[in-house]
Amino acid sequence: MTTAQESIELTRVGAGTVMGNFMRQYWIPAAMSSELQSGQPPVRLMLLGEKLIGFRDKAGKVGIMDHRSPHRCASLFFGRTEDDGIRCVYHGWKFGADGQCLEQPNLTEEQNFADKVRAKAYPVQERNGVVWIYMGEAEQVPELPSFEANLMPEGETVVRMVQRECNWLQALEGDIDTSHFGFLHVGSVKPDNVPDGHPIHGTVSDRAPQYLVREREYGTQYAAYRPHEDGRRTYWRFNNFMFPFWTQTPQAKFETYIVARGWVPMDDTHTMFISIQWMGGEVAKQRTNVVPLKDGGTIPGSSPDKLLPNTAGWYGRWRMEANADNDYLIDRDAQMRDEIFTGIDGIHLQDQAITESMGGIIDHTHERLAPSDQMITRSRRAMLRAARAFRDTGAPSPGVENPDLFRTARAGFFVEEPDVDWEEAYEKQVEAAVRAADYVKHAAE
Ligand code: FES
Ligand SMILES: [Fe+2]
Repeated sequence: MTTAQESIELTRVGAGTVMGNFMRQYWIPAAMSSELQSGQPPVRLMLLGEKLIGFRDKAGKVGIMDHRSPHRCASLFFGRTEDDGIRCVYHGWKFGADGQCLEQPNLTEEQNFADKVRAKAYPVQERNGVVWIYMGEAEQVPELPSFEANLMPEGETVVRMVQRECNWLQALEGDIDTSHFGFLHVGSVKPDNVPDGHPIHGTVSDRAPQYLVREREYGTQYAAYRPHEDGRRTYWRFNNFMFPFWTQTPQAKFETYIVARGWVPMDDTHTMFISIQWMGGEVAKQRTNVVPLKDGGTIPGSSPDKLLPNTAGWYGRWRMEANADNDYLIDRDAQMRDEIFTGIDGIHLQDQAITESMGGIIDHTHERLAPSDQMITRSRRAMLRAARAFRDTGAPSPGVENPDLFRTARAGFFVEEPDVDWEEAYEKQVEAAVRAADYVKHAAE
């Protein structure tokens, strides 16, 4: 079980907290590149409990900084994006994308001390449509995480963001909770209607999977297994948790599924989900919700997400149209007719509704965890151990200085001969899979 103290340490993310400090060692996806248009007004960003603004000046440089002007704390959200930075509209001070104060036009030349003033700006990098920031304190800023989805060629990945109104941990744990899939998402799908080889075949034919868990250097991994439909081989589904808030889920073919799913804490009760997925080759055609069932339809209740237009508020970005205020547009008739198990239309939305329904932060002392939750308990333990080790020793956590660690993590499903050990089966699949090129080296050439 998770104690009240462990719960606090795991869920709180502000500056100075155990988990907040742990996460600040890693690069954090802050926005999509497309959200920051050159010369356009700044955007409000909330990350790890900090109110920030992001902008791209007219020269194309991206700045992400504390929204408070270092002069008298007026919000730079109201600032003007200029050629080489942003100008605070209160007294006209101008700051470059790196935070350096460049002008103090309300002071005489003798009074001017711009060279001594800096806005609190974070290092920024962009790759494949994502703006990343580093909020840590290490003198040597690390490299971006090298999970494979972050190493694919420019233009071949699809990035998606969706805001969720609950703590990051309960949001993330939906991704490593294998047994919910057979109920929450496909509880109404009849096994007879699922063709052999369909991505959900195993899930629907056996809704109480057995699985194995192991700790990895980058986090944790589970492998759920069931007898394959041929009655002879084994059907495997591998899944990963990677420090500090990433997962890889198993809903596509292992060989070509290259994904990273981030559960980025905005603050203690809001999370920004980001998915970075390779869409090259045949991958797009294999998605669980587009592969037809025997009756010619697809999984009922798996419509694509509908998002509201973004607004300028701190919580205004990437919100779903169906939300707690409208009970996620639940269709009770569809639920009664057993067409859609939840009555809620959309796989992501079903997860959203359920994890938000737990409250802003789960009362972990109220849980009654079962053997089916062992991936969750092991992952919490690994997170706490790593975060406390950083608190106690200050030594960089796994993957911070050695981002290549994440390259070994892959997820997905495959079929294997019955007598092959699970770790060996995994290694064999990784070797045979489509692998990322070395983006960093490639980009430097
Ligand atoms: S508060 Fe921003 S310039 Fe004075
Ligand atoms: Fe789910």
